[in-house]
Amino acid sequence: MKKIIVGVTGASGSVFAHKLIEALLELGHEVHLVYTDNGQKVTEFELDNSLTSLLEHYGQINRENLYLYENGDLFSRIASGSYGVDAMVIVPCSMGTLAKVAHGISEHLITRAADVMIKENRKLVMVTRESPLSSIHLENMLKLSKIGVVIMPPVPAFYNKPSTLEESILLSVGRILELLGIDNPHHRVWRA
Ligand SMILES: Cc1cc2nc3c(=O)[nH]c(=O)nc-3n(C[C@H](O)[C@H](O)[C@H](O)COP(=O)(O)O)c2cc1C
Repeated sequence: MKKIIVGVTGASGSVFAHKLIEALLELGHEVHLVYTDNGQKVTEFELDNSLTSLLEHYGQINRENLYLYENGDLFSRIASGSYGVDAMVIVPCSMGTLAKVAHGISEHLITRAADVMIKENRKLVMVTRESPLSSIHLENMLKLSKIGVVIMPPVPAFYNKPSTLEESILLSVGRILELLGIDNPHHRVWRA
C-alpha cells in the first residue's frame, strides 16, 4: 500500500484526476487529496458534479484511505518532509501551478508539497495540460524535468486502438499509475 498525494489544479482534464483517485482507492492505496480553488471549480464544471458528492463517491470506494486537505492549510502533515509519502501527482496541472513549482513558490499546500517532494528526492509526476505551449511553459517543464520531475501531458495514444473516450482516459491513468510504481489493470504494454 502506497501513500500518494494527489493535487488537482484548474487545468482542463479533471476526469484524469477523478479516474486516478478511483483507481488508487480501488487498488488499496492511500490518497492524500488537495484541490486548488480553481481545481475545485473546473472539476465541478467538467464533471457536472459537486465536490461534496464526488468525495462521497470516493469515500464509498474506501473511506479509510481517503484524506482531504485544504490548499490553504500549510500546517498539514503533507507540507512537511518528515511525513513520508511515496509519491505525488499533480493532475491536471495548470501552467500557473507548473510555473510556481518551477520557481519554488510554495505559498499553498499543493505547491509546498511539490517543493517538498523535490527537496526530498521523491517521485513527482506533473500531468501538465495546455495547448499550444508557450516558451515559458516549455522552459518551466524543462527546468523541472532536468531535476527528475516527470512531466506527463495526458496525450492520447492511438496504437492501443481505444474504442471509447473512457478507454483512452483509462490508458493515460494506467500510465500515471505505472509512473507511480503501481501495478494496475489499465496499463497495457505495447506489443507489435
Ligand atoms: C474551464 C477552464 C479550463 C482551463 N483549462 C486550463 C488548462 O488546460 N491549462 C491551464 O494552464 N489553465 C487552464 N485554465 C486556467 C487556470 O484555471 C488558471 O490559470 C488558474 O489560475 C490556475 O490556478 P491553479 O493552478 O491554482 O488551479 C482553465 C480555466 C478554466 C475556467
